[in-house]
Order: sequence, then structure tokens, then C-alpha cells
Amino acid sequence: MFSFSCGTLNLNLTLALFALVCCPGSGEKAFKVHVRPKKLMVKPKGSLEVNCSTTCNQPEMGGLETPLNKTVLAQQTQWKHYLISDISQDTVFQCHFTCSGEQVSASFNVSVYQPPTQVILTLQPTWVAVGKSFTIECRVPAVEPLDSLTLFLFRGNETLHSQTFGKGAPALQEATATFSSTAHREDRHRNFSCLAVLDLLSRGGDIFHKHSEPQMLKIYEPVPDSQMVIIVTVVSVLLFLFVSSILLCFIFSQHWRQRRTGTYGVRAAWRRLPQAFWAQQA
Ligand SMILES: *[C@@H]1O[C@H](CO)[C@@H](O)[C@H](O)[C@H]1NC(C)=O
Ligand SMILES: *[C@@H]1O[C@H](CO)[C@@H](O)[C@H](O)[C@H]1NC(C)=O
Ligand SMILES: *[C@@H]1O[C@H](CO)[C@@H](O)[C@H](O)[C@H]1NC(C)=O
Ligand SMILES: *[C@@H]1O[C@H](CO)[C@@H](O)[C@H](O)[C@H]1NC(C)=O
Ligand SMILES: *[C@@H]1O[C@H](CO)[C@@H](O)[C@H](O)[C@H]1NC(C)=O
Repeated sequence: MFSFSCGTLNLNLTLALFALVCCPGSGEKAFKVHVRPKKLMVKPKGSLEVNCSTTCNQPEMGGLETPLNKTVLAQQTQWKHYLISDISQDTVFQCHFTCSGEQVSASFNVSVYQPPTQVILTLQPTWVAVGKSFTIECRVPAVEPLDSLTLFLFRGNETLHSQTFGKGAPALQEATATFSSTAHREDRHRNFSCLAVLDLLSRGGDIFHKHSEPQMLKIYEPVPDSQMVIIVTVVSVLLFLFVSSILLCFIFSQHWRQRRTGTYGVRAAWRRLPQAFWAQQA
């Protein structure tokens, strides 16, 4: 018995709550407010047209809330067509209409986008020995929104790396992808390139593609260690011979000069010295 009355009370409460939540101002039939288009993409500083309309036959009031510049391009009782200009960041706009003292609003999102215009690929270093590593860097300045961007790094037609980005700051950003790889002998016949894809389909926009200029590596064969030793030895021997010959030349030229200028009286005197000594003894 007790449980039954409690159940009835619960049911009544639920119905009352439902009525409150679902049909406010239960006297007037609920009306709707529409915005077209629902989602919009715009370039920085761009402008867009938007149509706010209502199902209410005789709205008392209607408008668009925005701190940005707006112009009414056309209007009738049930709709207003606006031009909003100078949009520089992602914004949520609200259209509202008042019918029989009741206000209903609808919001729409506008996202600012900038397709990739420059895709810069850098290979570092550009001269690589087979088996040595090098870095591929792809830079895309001034692109947004970053969370719709993917950068692909290619070796020939093979995808080496793809990179996505989290939500960036609202201002125009630079996106960078880097990848380290090892040089192969065949790489000398392959182009490296980078592709930037800005996919705005889910935001009501288009897909933008931009390729970098292709770049090639200069690949050389590494010199094996045993060969290196031979080269170093040969070069050392040659250097030694060269230096020795210069030294010998110098010594001989000095000798020749002394002979010509006759400054070896000392040596002659030295040779004569024993004779002089014996002469004295005798
Ligand atoms: C705005 O939307 C309403 C309702 O959908 C439509 O009747 C009207 O022609 C539209 N106005 C413009 C200028 O597109
Ligand atoms: C709106 O436009 C007018 C003239 O076109 C300009 O003087 C004003 O600064 C603009 N206001 C905003 C908030 O951009
Ligand atoms: C607008 O964006 C906000 C988040 O930024 C999202 O929660 C909301 O659902 C979006 N509204 C529309 C109409 O797309
Ligand atoms: C890449 O190109 C080579 C020939 O240049 C071809 O044999 C290969 O199937 C291609 N690979 C892909 C994934 O397109
Ligand atoms: C590399 O790119 C250059 C410039 O686009 C092109 O002329 C060349 O044929 C390409 N080489 C290969 C192997 O794809």
C-alpha cells in the first residue's frame, strides 16, 4: 500500500518536471529559430553572409548578437539576412527571435582558416654517405586551423612519415614536421617531397593540398677503413719525400754558396794546423 502511493508520487513529480523542461510557457506553441549555413569557414579578415529565420508567424523582435560589424542585407517578417565582416578568429554567433514574449535563439560556429600557400622542404645535410643519417624537415608557415592539417613526407612515392597537430593558438601558426632517415644507394635517383593537406570537410569547408618543390640528396659511397689507411700512408710518404727534397735542396744550395764565397778559410787553417804543430815540435 505504502509503496504504491510512493510510486504515484514519483510519477507525478516526473511528469511535472518533464512539463517544465520540455514545454516552457506552455500556453504558446513552441517556435523555432534557424541559421543558414550551420557551419562556416572564413579566411582571416573575411566576411560572410548568414540567414537567421524563424517559424514564428509574427515575431516581435529578431536579431544577431555579435561584437563584430554586421549589416542587414535583406529582411522580411520571418527572416533577416546579414553580412558580418572582419572576422579574425573562431567565433560562435547567435540568432534570436522573440515570439509572444518568449525568446528562442540558435547558434552557429564560424572557423577561420588559411590554406597552405608555402611548403618548404629542407634536407640536412644535402651530401650524405650511404648508410649515414639525414633529416627531412617540412615547414608550412601561416596555416590554420592546425588540427585540420596533416603533413606527409615522401621518398619517391613512399610515405616516410605523416604528422598531425593538436589545436593551436588562434593566431596564424607555422607547422613543422621532421623525420630522420638513413641514406640508401637508390636515394640518389629519388625525389623527396612534402605534402600539406588542410581538410576542412568536417567544418563545412573544402580540402586544400599543397606540395613542396622536390629535393634530391647527393649520395656518395663511404670510403672503407682499409682503403683510408692506404690513402693516409701514401699521402704521408709523399709529404715526407716532398719535405725532405726541399730540405736537401736548401742544404746543397748553402754548401754551394759557401764554396763560391770562399769562406772556408777556417777549414783550410784547421787542415794546416797539424803541420804547424809538427813543425813546432821539430
Ligand atoms: C532566408 O531564409 C528564409 C527561410 O529559410 C528564406 O525564405 C529566405 O529567402 C532567405 N533569405 C535569403 C536572402 O536568402
Ligand atoms: C565597423 O565598420 C566601421 C566602418 O566600416 C568602422 O569604423 C568600425 O571601426 C567597425 N567596427 C568594428 C567593431 O569593427
Ligand atoms: C560550436 O563549437 C562548439 C565548441 O567550439 C561546439 O560545442 C558546438 O557544438 C558548435 N556548434 C555548432 C552549431 O556547430
Ligand atoms: C612506387 O613507384 C614504383 C615505380 O616507380 C612502383 O613500382 C610502386 O608500385 C610504387 N608504389 C606505390 C605505393 O605507388
Ligand atoms: C624529381 O623532380 C624533378 C623536378 O620536378 C623531375 O624533373 C624529376 O623527373 C624527378 N625525378 C624522379 C626520379 O622522380
